[in-house]
Order: sequence, then C-alpha cells, then structure tokens
Amino acid sequence: MVKIAISKELDLAEPRVAATADTVKKFKSLGIDVAIEPGAGIRSGMLDADYAAMGAVVSADAVKDADIVIKVKRPEAGELATYKKGALVIAIMDPYGNDAALKTMADAGVSAFAMELMPRITRAQVMDVLSSQANLAGYRAVVEAAEAFGRAFPMMMTAAGTVPAAKVFVMGVGVAGLQAIATARRLGAVVTATDVRPATKEQVESLGAKFLAVEDEEFKNAQTAGGYAKEMSKEYQAKQAALTAEHIKKQDIVITTALIPGRPAPKLVSAEMVASMKPGSVLVDLAVERGGNVEGAKANEIAEVNGVKIVGYTNLAGKVAASASSLYARNLLSFIETLYDKAAQSLAVKWDDELVKATALTRDGAIIHPNFQPKA
Ligand code: NAI
Repeated sequence: MVKIAISKELDLAEPRVAATADTVKKFKSLGIDVAIEPGAGIRSGMLDADYAAMGAVVSADAVKDADIVIKVKRPEAGELATYKKGALVIAIMDPYGNDAALKTMADAGVSAFAMELMPRITRAQVMDVLSSQANLAGYRAVVEAAEAFGRAFPMMMTAAGTVPAAKVFVMGVGVAGLQAIATARRLGAVVTATDVRPATKEQVESLGAKFLAVEDEEFKNAQTAGGYAKEMSKEYQAKQAALTAEHIKKQDIVITTALIPGRPAPKLVSAEMVASMKPGSVLVDLAVERGGNVEGAKANEIAEVNGVKIVGYTNLAGKVAASASSLYARNLLSFIETLYDKAAQSLAVKWDDELVKATALTRDGAIIHPNFQPKA
C-alpha cells in the first residue's frame, strides 16, 4: 500500500498545510494510507481530529516509511534525513537561486517535485499553485492596503460631508493583480492598472478598471508563448517609468505584483515616486520575496517613508491560510492522482509525462531538471 505523509511546516512564518480532511478522505478512497504529523493543520484551522476522522494516522513518525511526503515549503536537511530514500517529496520548492538546497535534496536521495513549475496547460490547471495562491494573495493585498490606509475606500455621501473614493493603482496584472483589481473595485475604489503584456488591457477593462501603459511596438510583443512577461528593454522601462511616475503621484494606494519567471522582480516604483505620494498613501509590494517592485520595501515589514507606508509581507496567501491550504491541498491531490495507479494500488510515476518532466527536480541522487543543472 502506498503511504502519504503530511508534514508539519518547520517555518513559523508558514501557517499553511498540504492537506485537508477532504483530500485525506480522497486519498483513502484511492487506497492510499495517510499519516500526518500532530498539529500540522492547526494554523489553518484544521485539527488533528478532523484528519483522523477521515482515516489519517496522527503520528510524530508520519514521514517515516512514507512513499510520498507532501509539504508547503521545501524541506530542510534535518527533515530530509527522516524521509525514506526514493520518497517523492512534493512542495513549493522555490528552486531559482537555491542551488545548494537542491543539491541537499538530491543528496538525500528523494525525488523532489516543485509544484510551482507545473506547466500552464489545460490539463494541469487544477494543479496550478501559482494561480491558486496568487489569487488569494491579490485579494489579501487589498485587505492589507485597506487596513493600513487611514481613509475609506468607497465614496460616501453623508450629512457631514463626502468621503472621496480611494484611488488604487495595480501594477502587474497576472492572477494576483486581476484579483486585486476585482477586490478593490468591490470595496468601491477607483482602479487603474498597468502591465507589459498587451492581453491584460482587455482583462483590466472588463473588471471596470482603466488601463495605463506605453503601448509601443515592444509592448505589442511583450508576451512569451507561455503567456508570461518578458524582461523589457531599458528604453521601455524608462518610458513606462515616466508615465507611471505622473500617475502614482495622484494615487492613494499602489499594489505591485510584477514578476518575470526565474528573474529578479522588475523595479517599478522608485524612491522618488514613493516620495511624490501624499502622506497616508499605502504601497503593497507582492514581489518583495523576489527583490521587490518598490524601492524601500522590506520583507515582512511595513516601512514608512514621509508618512507613506510600504507593506512588504512575503506570505500574503498565508494570511488567508485556511483558504490557501484548501486550494493548495486540491492542487496536490490532483497532481498525485497522476502519479498513482489505482487498480494496482501502487506508485506509477511516468517520468516522461510533461507534468513530471516540468516539475521533477531531483531523482536517484542527482538534479535532473534541465533548468537547474550544476554549472560545469
Ligand atoms: P506573474 O506572477 O509571473 O507576473 C505577474 C504580472 O506581472 C504578469 O501579468 C506580468 O506580465 C507582469 N509584469 C512583468 N513585468 C512587468 C513590468 N515591467 N511592468 C508591469 N507588469 C509587469 O504572472 P502570473 O500571475 O503567474 O500569470 C501570468 C499569466 O499567465 C496570466 O495572466 C495568464 O495569461 C497566464 N496563465 C495561464 C494559465 C493557464 O492555465 N493557461 C493559468 C494562470 C496564468
């Protein structure tokens, strides 16, 4: 019988968990044994008893002998030492720029899979952790902005006077940015947004926001076949910066979500732009983990510059941990179903399947992913 272990996160800043009672039930119905470390779900509001009720064994030794270990974050050396050689370890691995950590996983003899490398094809949509987590992060970014802002978002006409609607500018309109726009609109803000991918213009407008960008030839070609942004030329960045600088001055809230896969986050908001904003304005930088879009953003802090707040939380999805965990757990379940043969009740990893090839980092003591080969 195949055994899955749900590991408790060591990182105190990580409240999410890799399984819910629902996904445990599903694993059990597939004939998979499930064990969970005590307290693994507690910070997502999920009790040991909830998992146990669905047939999970709650045990400090859960990972011992497990064929599959599921986690939120990449395991550390100490955790890897407790896993079985050859175990499949599936998590959000943050592989870029972390060569040493990848080598540690290879050396431990596990087969590590990075969920965030899942290809964005129709078949894998249900496994897309970037989307499931970014969507919640985009929502939460607006909640954080509203919390830090000393004024109301919606326009209010009262006997005592009128409160103007907040002006919100969203920079980067991927999954997180789109949800930020929708959330800010629901709160009654006047929303504008920018991105370098031309396809986003229509999406922004369909959410009732206004699109702002330098729409030159480079812009028209700024999308890769995979639907991602390319790194823009210095010239384009300068033109875009000039346009956005004028706009940012007049904004109450700026939410930045711009990322380029495998690259440091583009710098979009300079210290001068921050200084041009009115005191009481708020910036929320969702890219802070990858170097940040806003100059002066600090990881896991609210930096304050002349009365302007820069919110730099790294794990915004973790601030809606129960929702984030339940979506992440579904992402994992769907992926694991492709690695398992129900009839034979055994593991059946198809190493030439495109989902496996895209996500598998290590196997049999080596780093096997082409993007992370040790430099000769
Ligand atoms: P992301 O998190 O990599 O980047 C966020 C946004 O930042 C992107 O829209 C990107 O264009 C933008 N950006 C990059 N550099 C910028 C700059 N200098 N200025 C302004 N904006 C900049 O992107 P995310 O959210 O992971 O997805 C991007 C796109 O991928 C989606 O909008 C969609 O088209 C596609 N996608 C496809 C899926 C599928 O299953 N087919 C699922 C999810 C997304």
